[in-house]
Amino acid sequence: MALLRELRAGDGLRVKRYKIAVIPGDGIGPEVIEAAMPVLDRAAAKHGFTLAWERLPYCADHYLKTGETLPDAAFGHLRDDVDAIFLGALGDPRVPGNEHARDILLGLRFRLDLYVNFRPVQLLHPDLTPLRADRRTGGQPDSPTARRPQIDFVIFRENTEGVYLGRGRIEGDQYIAEEVNTAKGVERIIRAAFDWAKAHGKARVTMSDKANAVPAHRIWQETFRRVAAQYVGIEAEHRYVDALAMELVREPERFAVIVTNNLYGDILSDLGAALVGGLGLAPSANLHPGRSGGGLFEPVHGSAPALAGKGIANPLAAILTGALMFEQLGHPDAARDLERAVKETLRAGVRTSDIGGAATTEQVAQATQEHL
Ligand code: NAD
Ligand code: IPM
Ligand code: MN
Repeated sequence: MALLRELRAGDGLRVKRYKIAVIPGDGIGPEVIEAAMPVLDRAAAKHGFTLAWERLPYCADHYLKTGETLPDAAFGHLRDDVDAIFLGALGDPRVPGNEHARDILLGLRFRLDLYVNFRPVQLLHPDLTPLRADRRTGGQPDSPTARRPQIDFVIFRENTEGVYLGRGRIEGDQYIAEEVNTAKGVERIIRAAFDWAKAHGKARVTMSDKANAVPAHRIWQETFRRVAAQYVGIEAEHRYVDALAMELVREPERFAVIVTNNLYGDILSDLGAALVGGLGLAPSANLHPGRSGGGLFEPVHGSAPALAGKGIANPLAAILTGALMFEQLGHPDAARDLERAVKETLRAGVRTSDIGGAATTEQVAQATQEHL
């Protein structure tokens, strides 16, 4: 079969091969990434493409040994030569200032201009939500929505501005952080949220800011109103971020697309993860819409130092992150198949301890691979 493909390469039958740079990172990062890779290989093979993995060493250990975070040559390579970057997590108690993560993770988001941090929140099995079914349905535990809760929304987190730019200064005893909101930056993330809503048949986009306390957030209000007017048929609603946090717990089913700034998106995405089983299940993609290649794919979770080295971290967030990567590489069927396999693993009760099971990282990955 392989020979046939080689011989007929000129006919366009050659198996598509993607170059994926891997930054396993710190703590549980390498554990979940190494567990996810064979699962992604299997899904790719089943759907007629292959992944050429290239592991890169940049992490806290490397930084402590060499003083190097992300060298320029490596940045150039990641920008020019690969189809996607698959990253575990960065963060290590031995680097309390998080300098290496700032250069590697935030550095890649900023320098590659990956202005969308796409964070889906989807309930993959009804028993994963900590929300009580009767509360969610007005005291009717047997209603159909109680049995089949439909938490399914995405967060469009602005990824290149806000307080994350680290601008500011220290003046005596004043530690001043500046939050940057540009017309271009705010407009493009809002537009990306509406475009996605339109393409996916979603009826509502919710923008969240804190314009009642932060005068600069007027730009979010004005831009949202202007852009929303161009998307007929999609309801545009606003929530201050404090109220949104409350409402997400009270009635997550009513949300479809949430668009917000960098910091609020960071916080709301951990809250969102908690609604559907926790960080062990939450994927994310850093994207520049319209750009075919590129993209940085990472679970929402961090390096979870307390879990590291025990082989019990949940690999499903990393595997689901692989599905987002497949989608972006132009293989939605492989993405859906991977998501189906994850759901079957959850249904079969093969789970790590964060979601109430006793399985190891490896066993969960293995079970998911078998469902492919
Ligand atoms: P964390 O996400 O590492 O952990 C928060 C909680 O979730 C912990 O209880 C942890 O055990 C649990 N958890 C996370 N992932 C899990 C998984 N796959 N399976 C089971 N349980 C899981 O957040 P933190 O403790 O605030 O941060 C630890 C370090 O990670 C810090 O240095 C932080 O800066 C960094 N961090 C990095 C990233 C990233 O690289 N994308 C994201 C978040 C945090
Ligand atoms: C995330 C993380 C990062 C962020 C940290 C590690 C800088 O929490 O990816 O959600 O705040 O963006
Ligand atoms: Mn975060």
